[in-house]
Amino acid sequence: MTLTHDPNQLEKVLTQALTSLWGTEDTSIVFYDLAALKTRINELKTAFPDTAHHAIAVKANPLVGILSYLKTLDVGVEAATLPELYLAQQCGYSEKKLVFDSPAKTVEELTYALKAGIHLNIDNLIEISRVAQLYERIKSSSTCGIRINPQVGTGKIKITSVAGEYSKFGVPIKQFRSELIKVFEDHQWLRAVHLHVGSQGCGMEMLVEGVKTIYDFAQEVNRHSSGNSRKISILDIGGGLPVSYRDSDPEWSFEKYYNRLVKLCPQLSEYQLITEFGRFIHAHNGWVASRVEYVKKEKDIETIITHIGADMFTRMCYFPDDWTHRITVADRFGRIKTDTAKRRYTIAGPLCFSGDILGKGIFLPQVQEGDYLILLDTGAYTLGMWSRHNSRQIPKVIGYHGKIAGIIKEKETLEEIYKFWS
Ligand code: LLP
Repeated sequence: MTLTHDPNQLEKVLTQALTSLWGTEDTSIVFYDLAALKTRINELKTAFPDTAHHAIAVKANPLVGILSYLKTLDVGVEAATLPELYLAQQCGYSEKKLVFDSPAKTVEELTYALKAGIHLNIDNLIEISRVAQLYERIKSSSTCGIRINPQVGTGKIKITSVAGEYSKFGVPIKQFRSELIKVFEDHQWLRAVHLHVGSQGCGMEMLVEGVKTIYDFAQEVNRHSSGNSRKISILDIGGGLPVSYRDSDPEWSFEKYYNRLVKLCPQLSEYQLITEFGRFIHAHNGWVASRVEYVKKEKDIETIITHIGADMFTRMCYFPDDWTHRITVADRFGRIKTDTAKRRYTIAGPLCFSGDILGKGIFLPQVQEGDYLILLDTGAYTLGMWSRHNSRQIPKVIGYHGKIAGIIKEKETLEEIYKFWS
């Protein structure tokens, strides 16, 4: 296994945490590399034209400390719910930095976004009629787009693929091309097209093909628009760039992706681009260390019982064939174990069901009570998908920038759990 984090740095940060911020009540701690986040954002900005608006998907990592740090890097955010919009606004994002997507927007949410001048991506033709009615009575500076399902196929992971023949999201282009052309003729305020092909399981070729489908559609609408004004001036290409969670997964880059896009869509630069990356921005920046409470031996199976499981790693526990994380181990002082003689372990979390398993047949150097299991590449869609089953407390989150920068979020208290269920 190739570690996606420099082991020396992991060790440095973990040992520093263990001697300073790791309290006796902390059974697991989540770490986030802020310097790596800054590097990713720079890569994104360098790969795309300066005019692109990068709206980082809040759902991938909704921590206020991270959203606030992203704001200092001068990017925007994509919100898929009203609470995500609220989080962004509380972090100080101005309306023009926000993109609001959701397949279930209520009239109240649409009114709020239009009044605030937030960019909206409309999910379907019924929502178009709702927004048209609102435009009759609201003066809005919002730009609006419609989400199109480019129907380029389903990637390797079904439940996060949204561009198959059927999807609950967007308007399928094959069946509704002429209706889509008509909505652009009918509504002057509609200026953008939006798509998202899928998250993780879709390879770069599929993502590019999705964008190309939407680009061709925009070109067609614009060719038929009267006068000089282009009807569609904004292309929101969504997110979806896959991350390497296994050594066999390819490692993509924003640069490769953008180069591929311009090759297939030669006039792409004539559009204002919006991007909505989440996973590729965050995944490699995060990791979790969790204390080994017991190592149980039964016949030929050795089971590590640790303090993180299906509460934070929902996908990995419920869909183990599709999702995984690299795992390594450190001793009680935070030193990464490097012994070459490996043993096979089953790794189990703390929850009350037998599917709370982080992995079976995982080869690790010998593990003992008091060691720390380290799960890598956890910066996206882990804490953000926390499950309340068994009321486990959300762990402390520590940010570092070369060395530890501070606590991003304190461990959830028992009072907070009580309040949650009250
Ligand atoms: N834009 C839209 C409209 C989306 O639905 C998503 C992700 C993104 C952007 C960001 O995609 P990314 O670059 O992060 O792949 N682990 C989660 C993934 C669901 C993501 C859904 N949408 C899950 O298992 O549900």
